[in-house]
Formats: sequence, C-alpha cells, structure tokens
Amino acid sequence: MKPFIGSEDAMSTWTNPGWNSQNPEIDAEHKKLNQMVSSLAAVVRNDSGLGLSTEAIDILIERMKLHFALEERNAARIDSESRDILHEDHTLLLARLDRVRQAMTLRDHKEATSRLQAFIAALDKHDAEIDIPLFRMMAISSA
Ligand SMILES: [Fe+2]
Ligand SMILES: [Fe+2]
Repeated sequence: MKPFIGSEDAMSTWTNPGWNSQNPEIDAEHKKLNQMVSSLAAVVRNDSGLGLSTEAIDILIERMKLHFALEERNAARIDSESRDILHEDHTLLLARLDRVRQAMTLRDHKEATSRLQAFIAALDKHDAEIDIPLFRMMAISSA
C-alpha cells in the first residue's frame, strides 16, 4: 500500500481548488480542519516510540464535534432528511477518531497509523460525497 499520511493525495477534496461548497463559512471550516488533521498526522508520523500524546487528537475530536454540529444545524434549516444523512455519517467518523485515540492510548503506533489513514480516507469521502454536494444544493436552494 502506498504511504497515505503526509502524501499529497491525503485529503484531496480539501486541497482541490475546484471543490468548494459555495458556503464560505463551511469552506473556511474545512480548510481549518484540514490543517488540524494534517497536524495530527504529523504527530502520529513523528512519534519516536516514547508514547503518543493524545492532546492533539482530543483537540481535533472536540473541534470536529463543533464542526459537525454546525453543519447539521445548517442542514436542519433546509430539511430534516439532509440533517439525518449528515448526522449518521458524522457519528461514524467520530467513532473512527475514537478508535485512533484508543490505539494511541495503548501506544500501538502501527494500529494508530492505520486507523488514522482509514479515518482520513473516510473523511475525504464524506466531504466529497456528502458535505460538498449537500452544501452546494443548499446554496442553490437558499439563493
Ligand atoms: Fe460533514
Ligand atoms: Fe464537513
């Protein structure tokens, strides 16, 4: 498998200038989260084997929860079905982050790395297939 963390391909949705949701607040959020996920990937990648600090992931988890709540509030203004679709996928993403945290707590570097890769891939898929189409649709319907 090709290296994923730290590669140019990671989180391609956020780094592709052609992708924007047409909602500036949501786009700014995604850029900020992109930076935070990259920082976490660097923390995990550079771990010297002395044990991973969970501080970076704890901050990311809290920030992600705020982001998901913001998106869900936005979606709920349009319709409850969109909100539910988001909520379901957000819950799965948070569960993935918890699993990364668990591996970090157990100082299982290999497992933390592979779980983080899986989280990043799932988040990228979420953004490309759910967030961006949904927020574009909402931008059109509220215009
Ligand atoms: Fe989302
Ligand atoms: Fe999002």
